[in-house]
Amino acid sequence: MTPADPNVSVLEALRTTRSMRRLKPDPIPDDVLHAILDAAIRAPSGSNQQTWSFIVVTDDDLKRKLQEIYFDCARRYFAAAPRTVSDGSGEEIMSRVRASARHPAEHLHEAPVLVLCCIRGQRSFSLGASIYPAVQNLMVAARAFGIGSTLTTFHLGREQDVKDLLGIPDDVHTAALIPLGYPEGRWGEAKRLPVEQVVFHDRFGQHLWRD
Ligand SMILES: Cc1cc2nc3c(=O)[nH]c(=O)nc-3n(C[C@H](O)[C@H](O)[C@H](O)COP(=O)(O)O)c2cc1C
Repeated sequence: MTPADPNVSVLEALRTTRSMRRLKPDPIPDDVLHAILDAAIRAPSGSNQQTWSFIVVTDDDLKRKLQEIYFDCARRYFAAAPRTVSDGSGEEIMSRVRASARHPAEHLHEAPVLVLCCIRGQRSFSLGASIYPAVQNLMVAARAFGIGSTLTTFHLGREQDVKDLLGIPDDVHTAALIPLGYPEGRWGEAKRLPVEQVVFHDRFGQHLWRD
């Protein structure tokens, strides 16, 4: 029988699925991993084509090589990035983004499992829309089992190196690299702009709810 975390409702899992970057090296049981990936593949995709694939990486040498690529991409990204970036509320967030990105860049390989979420087809907005629902399903299902994750994409800076390393065909793209593991920290609600601010009624800019 698949183990489950009966204390986490769907809504609680959705509200508390956020980046958990500090992970313990403890292994994830195979049946739990299976349940998480089985939840991922329940996601929608354009015309139900399901051209996705998920590479579960647990080999120490491969994880280390992925970390080296990821580290290099993150370093180059931040070297070229603007010094300041604002979020939707106008708050300056670049120093926080830099700080939080640092841990996975240095410790990615320490996660017990890395999942590379892939999709075959021509790069387009709708191709992305056919893999990211599965990515989110994966992360929310992981949360339900008490397993932390982070949606990462820095590796795209050297995607061909990742594809060469894992034998990924030319027409298959790597949409997300997700470390999975039991988190060091505690679960908390994902911090977001308030729903009142981003939901409109009948007309763009016309708020449905007031604060
Ligand atoms: C398209 C996309 C790409 C992302 N790439 C990375 C990444 O490469 N590395 C990383 O540490 N986090 C990455 N993130 C995670 C975001 O930084 C994170 O979801 C956001 O800051 C909100 O923080 P929270 O998940 O802790 O609430 C990415 C998220 C998305 C949606």
